[in-house]
Amino acid sequence: MPVYAFVNSRGGVGKTTSSINIATAFAREGNRTVLIDHDPRQGTASRWKREADDIGNENEVPVIKVESGITRVVNDLKQVYDVIVIDGPAYLDNSNTALIASADVVVLPIQPSQTDLWAVKTALGWIEERQIITGGTPLAYFLLNRCHPDERVNTAELEGLKEFGVPILKARMVNRINYSRTLKEGTTVFSLPANDKARQEIKAIYEELTWAP
Ligand SMILES: Nc1ncnc2c1ncn2[C@@H]1O[C@H](COP(=O)(O)OP(=O)(O)OP(=O)(O)O)[C@@H](O)[C@H]1O
Ligand SMILES: [Mg+2]
Repeated sequence: MPVYAFVNSRGGVGKTTSSINIATAFAREGNRTVLIDHDPRQGTASRWKREADDIGNENEVPVIKVESGITRVVNDLKQVYDVIVIDGPAYLDNSNTALIASADVVVLPIQPSQTDLWAVKTALGWIEERQIITGGTPLAYFLLNRCHPDERVNTAELEGLKEFGVPILKARMVNRINYSRTLKEGTTVFSLPANDKARQEIKAIYEELTWAP
């Protein structure tokens, strides 16, 4: 099973929100899943986990904080877990190169705004460097986040995004209070009713990722 890294060269795009929820989706499907908090300066995923433990919420995903040496940690964890999900850092430095090299699939959460389009070029550069070395891996996908519920609103930004030539997942995350609320509470969208829209979005992203070539 692949290693999924949630990466962007811009902060605040939803790396932690999406990685926590997708890791939980894998765990709920019976995969032994671990989430690596590779953002030690902020430690948001670890903070979320502490919150979950404090309120005694059922939480299927262990979180491991990794500051350096990601390659070896990932190799070791592969012996124990079926799926490894990595929440990438907010800042730019060399650790991103090792992170991308340790991933089979890189998911780039991105908000449909022109400034996000400009900022993602740095991350795409790192991924392309790695793909040249390996002859194509890791695979990379854009994940649209904080979208307007009306898909037609962000058409111009979507056209700009397509020009990068990186596949865009069809499933997307709309701007919804339930994403920020569940993160804050130490839960995930899976604590919400089955018909909740955020929960359905995460399920659709999970399904698309697991079916992706
Ligand atoms: N789809 C969404 N709807 C509403 N709020 C969202 C959504 N996605 C993310 N947020 C909120 O936006 C903020 C930033 O999200 P998050 O922490 O996941 O981003 P990040 O890329 O991990 O940030 P950083 O680069 O600082 O690590 C959080 O407060 C989160 O709750
Ligand atoms: Mg984060």
